[in-house]
Amino acid sequence: MSPVLTETHAVPSPIPPGSPEPGPARRDLLDLETLPKADLVRLLEGAAAFRRVLATPSRKKAVLTGTAVANVFFESSTRTRVSFEWAAKRVGADSVSFVSAGSSVSKGESLLDTVWTLESMGVDLVVVRHESAGVPLFLARRVSAHVINAGDGCHEHPTQGLLDARTLLDHKGSLAGLKIAIVGDVAHSRVARSALWAFTRLGAHVTLCGPTALLPVDASALGDRAAGGSVRTAARLEDAVEGADAVMALRLQTERMERANLPSVADYARRYRLTRKRLAGAAKDVLVLHPGPMNRGVEIASHVADSPKSLIREQVANGVAVRMAVLCWCRGLDPVEAAS
Ligand code: CP
Repeated sequence: MSPVLTETHAVPSPIPPGSPEPGPARRDLLDLETLPKADLVRLLEGAAAFRRVLATPSRKKAVLTGTAVANVFFESSTRTRVSFEWAAKRVGADSVSFVSAGSSVSKGESLLDTVWTLESMGVDLVVVRHESAGVPLFLARRVSAHVINAGDGCHEHPTQGLLDARTLLDHKGSLAGLKIAIVGDVAHSRVARSALWAFTRLGAHVTLCGPTALLPVDASALGDRAAGGSVRTAARLEDAVEGADAVMALRLQTERMERANLPSVADYARRYRLTRKRLAGAAKDVLVLHPGPMNRGVEIASHVADSPKSLIREQVANGVAVRMAVLCWCRGLDPVEAAS
């Protein structure tokens, strides 16, 4: 499992005096668990508004001219990094992409010194992906730039959760009362954690499904019950899929197989691969999601991934609009007004 960042792990610097504290005065997007529903809804509305901007000939709304964005990725990414780059350009910001390979990190520079270096060059927004849960919060307490979590260890991937919710809303109008199954390596999945907070805050009933070793031990503490949502677990795929309005397959993180004590990828696929036959018990108009990257034939059959039920390409497309809304929101703009 990815390490959880502690005050003594990786970056031992104390919080410098006078450092900014996360709070109402500054906006960072660190997780969806603590994002108030009003902000969640406004970001989703903003994403819809920015999608209309993306459909215009210029595909641009230059509302963040002069803003500098740094995409700081310590883990590999295709969708998230590229869509943040596109999103920054589409709102008129300047962006640079930092990848740890080939940087001064390989000479021993710490995470914090790296981000302070970028900040000294005038960066206003830091988009960070890191293997350690807690890195975005750690940075938000120490740097002046706004921080956006692009995936931290097994914790959260909030812009993924937003784009998943946006994609389902486009088809269903509302998530209230919907039955949504999230299937696979839930325990290690930051995608699942962000999705379940977004879905339950909008009133959905989420079933987490997978081998017991890959289900979170704290499922009863997850989800926004006060908002009408709920979370339960199921070990059998057929139980999770029964009557489901949407099913999200997660990437099997083969790098965690040994720790999870699973017999083999083949055994996992035999029990949990999403196939047409396995979706037979779901709602007739069931929708299928996958955050990518996909292991075709492992967690999802190609005939499902490429079927009309599949929203996978829409999820990717929505990623740009969602990230345009998030960049604006972090800079203090109302995302709907920014897109108007
Ligand atoms: N869904 C997702 O985070 O994909 P990438 O790893 O390609 O960014």
